[in-house]
Amino acid sequence: MTDIKDSQYFIDAIKKEMSHQRFIHTLGVVEMAKELALIHGVDLSRVEIAALLHDISKETSKEELRKIVFEHFPDEITLEDLDSSEIMHGFAGAAVAKTKYKIDDEEILEAIKYHTIGKAGLSLLGRIIYISDAIEKNRNYPGLEEIRKCVRENLDCGIILEISHIIEHLNECQKYVHPNTKDMYKWLVSINKKDVNF
Ligand SMILES: [Fe+2]
Ligand SMILES: [Fe+2]
Repeated sequence: MTDIKDSQYFIDAIKKEMSHQRFIHTLGVVEMAKELALIHGVDLSRVEIAALLHDISKETSKEELRKIVFEHFPDEITLEDLDSSEIMHGFAGAAVAKTKYKIDDEEILEAIKYHTIGKAGLSLLGRIIYISDAIEKNRNYPGLEEIRKCVRENLDCGIILEISHIIEHLNECQKYVHPNTKDMYKWLVSINKKDVNF
């Protein structure tokens, strides 16, 4: 079990490993994730550790990310994934959290691994990290306030709204939408049918 008393240890560690801007973003994710954890009844210490470590590999080179991902998730990564640091840094972050920071809480590791692309069936803790990364206080994009409001009232409906914004944006730019993100969207719609108005 992860030592839940050690959040200051992780704060000190990540501060040394990332740029000031990334550190500020990370603290924003911690703040948002803890607020959502309180609202939705998730353990604050575990959410804090996942949020602190979620971008631990964000500034790692693409070459190094490929090495880590190949070593730890050889059967889970596609050719498209291997071309994207944005996708790989979650997978690599989970591996680094496990090996370097000795995190053995599978939900924390899963939350780090899928914080960018999501996953159908992602735990409540994982969903909180996923959405907190997208809506923390330092983010700024059209429609963000509506998503923040929605997430506080109904976490899944807020995530559905956020994913629909992403898909719309990526389609407009003719960019690739990761299958995991589409799958999480469909899964959330299916389990929240009565609350979703489309
Ligand atoms: Fe990230
Ligand atoms: Fe992030």
